[in-house]
Amino acid sequence: MAEFKKTPLIGRLVVVGLGLIGGSFAKGIKESGLCREVIGVDRNPDTRRQAVELGVVDRCEEHLANACLGADVVQLAVPILAMEKVLEELSTLDLGQAVLTDVGSAKGNVARAAQRAFVGRPLRFVPGHPIAGSEKSGVTAANSKLFRRHKVILTPFDAIDEQALVLIDKLWRALDADVEYMSIEHHDEVLAATSHLPHLLAFTLVESLAKRSENLEIFRYAAGGFRDFTRIAGSDPVMWHDIFLANREAVLHTLDTFRDDLDALRQAVVTEDGHQLLGVFTRARAAREHFGKILARRAYVDPMQTKDLTYIASPGGSLSGRIRVPGDKSISHRSIMLGSLAEGTTEVEGFLEGEDALATLQAFRDMGVVIEGPNQGRVTIHGVGLNGLKPPPGPLYLGNSGTSMRLLSGLLAAQPFDTTLTGDASLSKRPMNRVAKPLREMGAVIETAEEGRPPLIIRGGQSLKGIHYDMPMASAQVKSCLLLAGLYAKGETSVTEPAPTRDHTERMLRGFGYPVSVEGSTAKVSSGHRLTATHIEVPADISSAAFFLVAGSIAENSELVLEHVGINPTRTGVIDILRLMGADITSENQREVGGEPVADLRVRSAPLTGIEIPEELVPLAIDEFPVLFVAATCAKGRTVLRGAEELRVKESDRIQVMADGLKILGVQAEPTPDGIVIEGGPMGGGEVESHGDHRIAMAFSVASLRASAPIRIHDCANVATSFPTFLSLAAQAGIRVKEEAIA
Ligand code: S3P
Repeated sequence: MAEFKKTPLIGRLVVVGLGLIGGSFAKGIKESGLCREVIGVDRNPDTRRQAVELGVVDRCEEHLANACLGADVVQLAVPILAMEKVLEELSTLDLGQAVLTDVGSAKGNVARAAQRAFVGRPLRFVPGHPIAGSEKSGVTAANSKLFRRHKVILTPFDAIDEQALVLIDKLWRALDADVEYMSIEHHDEVLAATSHLPHLLAFTLVESLAKRSENLEIFRYAAGGFRDFTRIAGSDPVMWHDIFLANREAVLHTLDTFRDDLDALRQAVVTEDGHQLLGVFTRARAAREHFGKILARRAYVDPMQTKDLTYIASPGGSLSGRIRVPGDKSISHRSIMLGSLAEGTTEVEGFLEGEDALATLQAFRDMGVVIEGPNQGRVTIHGVGLNGLKPPPGPLYLGNSGTSMRLLSGLLAAQPFDTTLTGDASLSKRPMNRVAKPLREMGAVIETAEEGRPPLIIRGGQSLKGIHYDMPMASAQVKSCLLLAGLYAKGETSVTEPAPTRDHTERMLRGFGYPVSVEGSTAKVSSGHRLTATHIEVPADISSAAFFLVAGSIAENSELVLEHVGINPTRTGVIDILRLMGADITSENQREVGGEPVADLRVRSAPLTGIEIPEELVPLAIDEFPVLFVAATCAKGRTVLRGAEELRVKESDRIQVMADGLKILGVQAEPTPDGIVIEGGPMGGGEVESHGDHRIAMAFSVASLRASAPIRIHDCANVATSFPTFLSLAAQAGIRVKEEAIA
């Protein structure tokens, strides 16, 4: 904390109440050097003596009046029910311009007490709550680093002056706390749910079991589960007594909601409703895992770093061995969607546990579908039938996933309930009119943000009618969206595509026993049929394999086998393009798995030559261009891509972002409105931006194989959307790319 030893920000800080929290705040600020003098006030003479001896404060006072003379900041760290008395006493003193603040765990009660005490007098009070506790207590446990990377919630009144707020904010930040703002009411509701209710439950459970003498015996048999669940029943009873009284209303509200849920669960046990039990437990487990990840990130990763996960790719290397990349993203999404709408239980193997497909999975869980897993690629979906979805409790958050949003919008347009679809910053910029427009023609009611961007609000209760739609762009997402809406629309829905696009929806609908007719470039469905549960084996994703197909081609002395890759002809454009450039890719052991062709692909290093990419191959390789641009860079001569304007509206503008990065590496790459012209040549190292686009991040990792110096790639966290195991498989195969170590 030495770096904070700078010009003092304030003269005198008074900390009233030198327990663990007050003592730690005093000690931290004292060590930071932000304050000339830190004075402690405590009723207990021993505490006052120890505080000085331990260097927690500069000196102590017994009485508030003496301490507060000339104070700039007064921090109230007394028990929450004692706040009122202290505030009353403070209101009788001349506090000058001093700013008051506190650390109470409930805010409404303290704020009201302050307003009552200071009625008719100026009140400069910033209520605060550091979420940092410890089993330890008392001044002897004071720890200047206690608040490091812990949240501190400030709940300022609307009328508070800006300067007072900035001052308190700075003091907490000097202790390395993450400062956040909330309204008083919201704070009290959130804390009632996440902290106060669990304590109430732990205290009650232990007491309820313990008070029956026959039960005392069972404690002897209580194992880890009981210990974990009831750890917090060992907390300070007086403090918790205070908190429940102080935050009475919010606690009662959250307790009532919980009681309803508990009653519903009890009923499920009474009626032996296993489906209901499984639903609650699988959803809870998924939520707990999500929470676990957040916790892990908070504990081990600097908050600044989570925003910019940087890869360092070292130059050189060659590839060898056999690897299996994770499951196909498109098929994984559709397995959840169709499995949920089917009748019966669908088992999925090889499911991609990437964030995009998980967003689809979570959306269906939110709509009441019971889904077990994923567990090592296995998912069990208890289908609810075409008309069995339930209204979700809130907006469906789809993260980075365009496929989730576009496909879901088709089937949600036909549901009897409203839904709101939201996404991350990248998804929020992507065009949705391409699905909203034809869906409206079918009778859907959809609101979008400006220029057809997310969020989408889809109004339920509409009866859709089938249409014929001539797609203006080659998009499998639009086609799939309309076919899914067509499952519910009156009559026939048909879609004609200007060029072939991936046909997984058509194949998988048939796999679920739903008739789809395909004639030439037109796919057609009619409503009135059912989906029947099936078994799905998801092949490895050719879009993920593509990084290794290019890597194995451009790196010297390489030979690599990619196992069990899906080679659906609507997806193999990348292989065709690489072969046209001279790549040595052979397919072995071809077979058909669950309606999709699969093969092992062997790639060996080969000299590549620049080509004019045939336009008809563009939709068949639409996701692979970032890494194909790397292949072009390593090829002899010029590569020209045309007819690929769709690349500008992917997770990033892939033409511009790749051109920018390649130029930084010294490559001649000229973007055109619908493509790019790349001159093959040597690549240097440098620092490139992926703009949060997973495929750009992985493409530049592959580029390092032929770069003369390291490549630093920014903003790589989204690699987890499609290829969560990329770094380990890359290392296994021979690409030297790593997460940059956190300083
Ligand atoms: C996908 C279709 C393609 C592709 C995307 C997945 C799908 O998008 O880029 O990664 O699963 O249907 P477009 O339909 O927008 O081309």
